[in-house]
Amino acid sequence: MAAPFILSPSLLSCDFGRLAEELRDLEAAGLAWAHWDVMDGAFVPNITFGPLVIGALRSRSRLFFDVHLMIERPERYLTQFADAGADLICVHAEATAHLERAVAEIARLGAKPAVALNPATPLCAVEYLLPQLHMVLVMSVNPGFGGQKFIPFSLDKIRGLKAMIRAKGLSTLIQVDGGACPDNARELVEAGADVLVSGSAFFGFPPYAERLDAFYAPFAKG
Ligand code: DX5
Ligand code: ZN
Repeated sequence: MAAPFILSPSLLSCDFGRLAEELRDLEAAGLAWAHWDVMDGAFVPNITFGPLVIGALRSRSRLFFDVHLMIERPERYLTQFADAGADLICVHAEATAHLERAVAEIARLGAKPAVALNPATPLCAVEYLLPQLHMVLVMSVNPGFGGQKFIPFSLDKIRGLKAMIRAKGLSTLIQVDGGACPDNARELVEAGADVLVSGSAFFGFPPYAERLDAFYAPFAKG
């Protein structure tokens, strides 16, 4: 069976003291992506890691580095994250006054551009940029912390975004971040999600290869 979606484990929920080993274990378990939640203590209340940490781990992993910037005015740091080896850089629509410029800059730096929308941010914030985007991230919790409850209206938002992408004849990926678990994976994918981020519902249930199977199991039932 072809994988029904990409699972991008949120490193926010891994053991930060063992980042290199965690990345190695993800790769060994068959994962292809790793989701880096970069937080600045301003756009969101929490602080995590920055380009120096990501850059130090780059040579230790072949995973696709999916970098979610929850930082104010991300345009200040795009070069650093691209130089650190981010494969994809995702900026929040709410964090910059010049979203189009930030997206163009990410592409110019050689990374895949993506835009994230907070739960209350409407889809029209990203509509005109869709042709330039590799992916749109639909936040299904308010960003800042792992382990929060999935906000139900996110499903409608995913459906709306999927319709918008189809109407434009594009193949932009839809990523969903926050509260994803094996129980809602099928509903999310049927709504239009291509990439699910999972932190607490993934790292809390080792071994990782078995947990990946648990996320894919609902799709084996037909
Ligand atoms: C929230 C982060 C998410 C988060 C997801 O601010 O962007 O990536 O870690 O964690 P879970 O899967 O636990 O909701
Ligand atoms: Zn995230």
